[in-house]
Amino acid sequence: GKRMRPVLTLIGGSLFDVPANESIHAALAIEFFHNFSLIHDDIMDAAPVRRGKPTVHQKWDANIAILSGDVLFTEAYKQLAHYRDERLADLLTRFNDTAIEVCQGQQLDMDFETASSVSEEAYIEMIRLKTSVLLGCALEFGAILGRADVPTRKLLYDFGVELGIAFQIQDDLLDLYADPEKFGKQVGGDVLANKKTLLLLTAQRQADQQQDDRVKALFVMDKSEAKVETARILFNELGATDFVKAAQQQHYDKALQSLEALPLPDAKKEPLRQLAAFLVNREY
Ligand code: IPE
Ligand code: IPE
Ligand code: MG
Ligand code: MG
Ligand code: MG
Repeated sequence: GKRMRPVLTLIGGSLFDVPANESIHAALAIEFFHNFSLIHDDIMDAAPVRRGKPTVHQKWDANIAILSGDVLFTEAYKQLAHYRDERLADLLTRFNDTAIEVCQGQQLDMDFETASSVSEEAYIEMIRLKTSVLLGCALEFGAILGRADVPTRKLLYDFGVELGIAFQIQDDLLDLYADPEKFGKQVGGDVLANKKTLLLLTAQRQADQQQDDRVKALFVMDKSEAKVETARILFNELGATDFVKAAQQQHYDKALQSLEALPLPDAKKEPLRQLAAFLVNREY
């Protein structure tokens, strides 16, 4: 894995001069939680491959994957239990709210599989919940550990949430267009599962009646390489990628606005700027 969430916590802490050996437990909590969510997500998405290897449910079975995830979730709390002062309540509150939101987002993601139309607003709210709030939480952990004031904490959280939306949009693009060698996940999995990604919603918005019928016909195709290729042809015809990239850029810009507003020396923000740029341009 890229381990970018724990890096966000470590950088977040460093903004307020929290030493890495102190923020490491919060960083580990976030990464354990993330890995828990991936193991369960791969069951829900029937995903065969993750990080270039068979997924846990594929290699063993669903019960083992459920329990492995549960253990990782508990390991996250063990890490948070290292903080034995007044910061613990704030860490736990942010963490618990985030965990519930991730579950809500995952439920919406699955509900949308069987919906024939989903609004772009509903899609953005779904990815805010399933993905973005965890990036916000990772960053805010750094600020909580650094005893930053509430407005500062919020700016960092908002930076993470907007960045997370841009990040998930990149994940959706890669799901259909990545080089399988670099990506480490099945390419086309979202199309096979009838996920309502921004690519698909944009294609629907741009489609005329005949093209819209072709998009709808995708939903009833058998899971096959032909289905993935049909989606690619249709989305390319409708110029979906360019629109999706433009939407991604808006969230990325909003993220950077929150970062610029943080009352900290500019040089301290540079690692976050660099990480943000990497996350929206990545190929894996
Ligand atoms: C995958 O996250 C799940 C999403 C929210 C898109 P990452 O792309 O960060 O996965 P790893 O941890 O680097 O494998
Ligand atoms: C996953 O979204 C979000 C969570 C794990 C909570 P995806 O289903 O798009 O993530 P990948 O593509 O499987 O990594
Ligand atoms: Mg998935
Ligand atoms: Mg999923
Ligand atoms: Mg994905």
